[in-house]
Amino acid sequence: MAAVDVRGLRKSYGGQEAVRGITFALAEGEVFCLLGPNGAGKTTTIEILEGYRTRDAGDVSVLGLDPQRRDRALRERIGVVLQHSESWANVTVTETLRIFAGYYRRPRDVDEVVALVGLDAKRDARVKTLSGGQKRRLDLALALVGDPDLIFLDEPTTGFDPQARRNAWELVRGLRALGKTILLTTHYLDEAQQLADRVAVLRDGVIVSEGTPSELMASSRTEIRYRENGAVKVIATDEPTRLLHELTSRAVAEGRELEELEVRRSSLEDVYLDLLDDTPE
Ligand SMILES: Nc1ncnc2c1ncn2[C@@H]1O[C@H](COP(=O)(O)OP(=O)(O)OP(=O)(O)O)[C@@H](O)[C@H]1O
Ligand SMILES: [Mg+2]
Repeated sequence: MAAVDVRGLRKSYGGQEAVRGITFALAEGEVFCLLGPNGAGKTTTIEILEGYRTRDAGDVSVLGLDPQRRDRALRERIGVVLQHSESWANVTVTETLRIFAGYYRRPRDVDEVVALVGLDAKRDARVKTLSGGQKRRLDLALALVGDPDLIFLDEPTTGFDPQARRNAWELVRGLRALGKTILLTTHYLDEAQQLADRVAVLRDGVIVSEGTPSELMASSRTEIRYRENGAVKVIATDEPTRLLHELTSRAVAEGRELEELEVRRSSLEDVYLDLLDDTPE
């Protein structure tokens, strides 16, 4: 059984259709990433799956249940990082986590979760005194404290410093190794490339592309850059080996250096931006 199964999902706000009949599924143990520009419908979709919003049409199954019914059995098995969350400002980090742990039958150890997200130094700090990135780490801790099977992470690393982001990636990989299923959104394409087994790109409420990061990057090319006579040359090619051989042999024969030589595959971000350029609004 799929951990998450979405068919023909639709949602409008007023007359405006934010999600326009999308279909996708997550296998158990999979990390799936929803990508797409601001307003594409990612949060709408994810909050419908979490049971925080109702749908207008379509079939949705989350761990075999309909999230709209808000069964306690389902809530105990999912963990959530909302895009915007409000914690209780006047309680401390560990107090907040203990309160949340109390909602679950088999919570994780609070101290362990504090350590996992790197908040040891702030464990007794009031939530209102945390920095933006530290608050986000607490959000992540709150999603993990119930030891859920399925985790929804809506832009979990927004505001993280580079080191915290790497730590969060390790955390997600660790959760995946434990067999957890993860649905993630992010605007960091390197994050999607690092973490996702599969990605779907949403645009204006429609999935415009879906596949593994390598499938999406099948169209990616190699870019060779160097400086010649003061000008930067950039060549995109599907035959980097041959082209590089020609360029370097010529330069060696002429006894000169290809200055600032760089060879680079286009990234998932390049492919993503090309895809959005090509897709009509
Ligand atoms: N509660 C709401 N009431 C009215 N319109 C809404 C509401 N929530 C979202 N929308 C609209 O629905 C569309 C999709 O919004 P959504 O938050 O799902 O996008 P998103 O892909 O998560 O964007 P972002 O990357 O900025 O978080 C947007 O046009 C937004 O203005
Ligand atoms: Mg969003």
